[in-house]
Amino acid sequence: MEIKILKDENEIGAACGQFFVDYINANPKCVLGFATGATPVPTYNYIVDAYNNKKVSLKEISTFNLDEYCDIPKEHKNSYWYFMRENLFGKVDVNYDNVDFLNGNADTEAESARYAKAIADKGGIDVQILGIGRNGHIAFNEPSDEFTDEAWKVTLTQSTIDANSKYFDDIPMPHYAVTMGIGSIMRSKKIILIATGDSKAEAVKAMIKGPVTPQCPASILQQHNDVVIYLDEAAAALL
Ligand code: F6R
Repeated sequence: MEIKILKDENEIGAACGQFFVDYINANPKCVLGFATGATPVPTYNYIVDAYNNKKVSLKEISTFNLDEYCDIPKEHKNSYWYFMRENLFGKVDVNYDNVDFLNGNADTEAESARYAKAIADKGGIDVQILGIGRNGHIAFNEPSDEFTDEAWKVTLTQSTIDANSKYFDDIPMPHYAVTMGIGSIMRSKKIILIATGDSKAEAVKAMIKGPVTPQCPASILQQHNDVVIYLDEAAAALL
């Protein structure tokens, strides 16, 4: 694991954003795995600024996202598809034909197989961006007794519901989501995980210094051979 500690989320957004700009320019047809949530937003903002300044084009990239809620329409303002459109895809020249998402309203088994095949058909994910939950989750893989493999349907924990329900003001927050499994994430060629803020410090410590255990799903990243972890000073405080 390569660990980079920067001052705050803005410095991380600039560093990660510049990494993606350079990577896309060098590999215009690359396959990128995206995450939602607050953490990657400064990185996405940086990429949008670079696009507006004609420093990068995303028109040939392919994308996969980590996860999606079940039981809400794709176009609902709390869906992760909507989030990506608002924060990145709708602001750049990405080709929506090459944007793939897990469908939270499909038969999970068939959808999991479809997603695995779609990723494989593109040659795998070149770079996957991740955040981390306060309980060590990655994507929606919550602490459990075993590591998952391909995409699956998860019952969200109370910790995750407490963290995310503030975003749901018109409907109750769903209690289920579909998520890429740990195996699908680990098959990405390169992984960039970002953690910012003191609420992530315990999870960051467990991920980097603790045992590899499904009780802290992010700890599996210790076994990946190309992981870069960007931390701000608050998230790195317990290392
Ligand atoms: C979202 C995702 C989640 C988040 C995590 C942190 O696609 O995969 O694992 O990365 O819950 O969320 P934020 O960034 O909002 O703290």
